[in-house]
Amino acid sequence: MKLIDYGVREDEMQYIKDWSKENDIEVKIVTDLLTAETIEAAKGYDGVVAYQQLPYDPIIFDKMNEYGIHVISLRNVGTDNLPMDALIKNNIRLTNVPSYSPEAIAEYSVTGLMALLRNMKSMIRKVDNHDFRWAPDIGRELNSLTVGVAGTGRIGRAAIKIYQGFGANVIAYDKFHNPDIEKQGLYVDSLDELLKNSDVVTLHLPSLGKGNTVINEETISEMKNGAIVVNTGRGDLIKTKDLYDAVESGKLDGAVLDVYENEVGIFNSDLSNGELNDELLKAMVSNPKFIITPHIAFYTTRAVKNMATISLDSMVEELETGTSKNEIKLAK
Ligand code: COI
Repeated sequence: MKLIDYGVREDEMQYIKDWSKENDIEVKIVTDLLTAETIEAAKGYDGVVAYQQLPYDPIIFDKMNEYGIHVISLRNVGTDNLPMDALIKNNIRLTNVPSYSPEAIAEYSVTGLMALLRNMKSMIRKVDNHDFRWAPDIGRELNSLTVGVAGTGRIGRAAIKIYQGFGANVIAYDKFHNPDIEKQGLYVDSLDELLKNSDVVTLHLPSLGKGNTVINEETISEMKNGAIVVNTGRGDLIKTKDLYDAVESGKLDGAVLDVYENEVGIFNSDLSNGELNDELLKAMVSNPKFIITPHIAFYTTRAVKNMATISLDSMVEELETGTSKNEIKLAK
């Protein structure tokens, strides 16, 4: 068996090399992203592994079919950048890594929130300039707040545990009820009810697609005055301009955004030479009421190792048995 792994970053490489040695399976490491051009390199391999944020070109899957390759394994969880019709048409099976470290993302939600509640951005900027005054950066305490967790999948549930550990009053919403969360009596009946009753709303939902947002002008008007939004899920869950305006007007107290609706091509790029042409992002970056980070909630050694190795394990499972516990069933 011979595998090819695309878009490999420096921090993933050793995990892939170690896996290859331990499993005695050849894995060709490619740093280029998977495109209509780079797929050529997969000729002669049995399976393609990849991760990227840019959309996957449908031609890739026509070519995979032509080369007799019928499995693609993603090193991440999100599949929103794949042309599913092209996979179905070419009989290509798909796996992802549904759980590489829910705790990494859940911990980051609280990390960002704590930084915002204690005005860390403003305080660090002041201290960097040798201004050691306290005021006006008086903080708020998490233990006195109601945290609304939207989405109670693995990440949402890990977040609930952590927020409860801090003594926050936690409420939750999900279309699908988890028995443990149900038993604790945390569920409210609707997303609206969650938004109305939360001092902090933390989003752990997948993308809702087609311009469907959870946080927008209308829903913000229902939220508590002074509430905070934390998003470590998907950028398109929020109409960011509406959120920005609400913070600027004082309706909301701030936001922690590790994902952003227009992040592709910006996050994980070095634009320090002045190439950032996104006025809204620029405004948020300079505003101490916004903690903005470039989609790094997942970015821990444990998570990266799991992404690199679980994707390869799933590929082997697919090639040996024709399916995998991480296969995503594509709607025909
Ligand atoms: C995903 O796994 O889909 C993520 O959002 C994390 C990604 C940046 C690797």
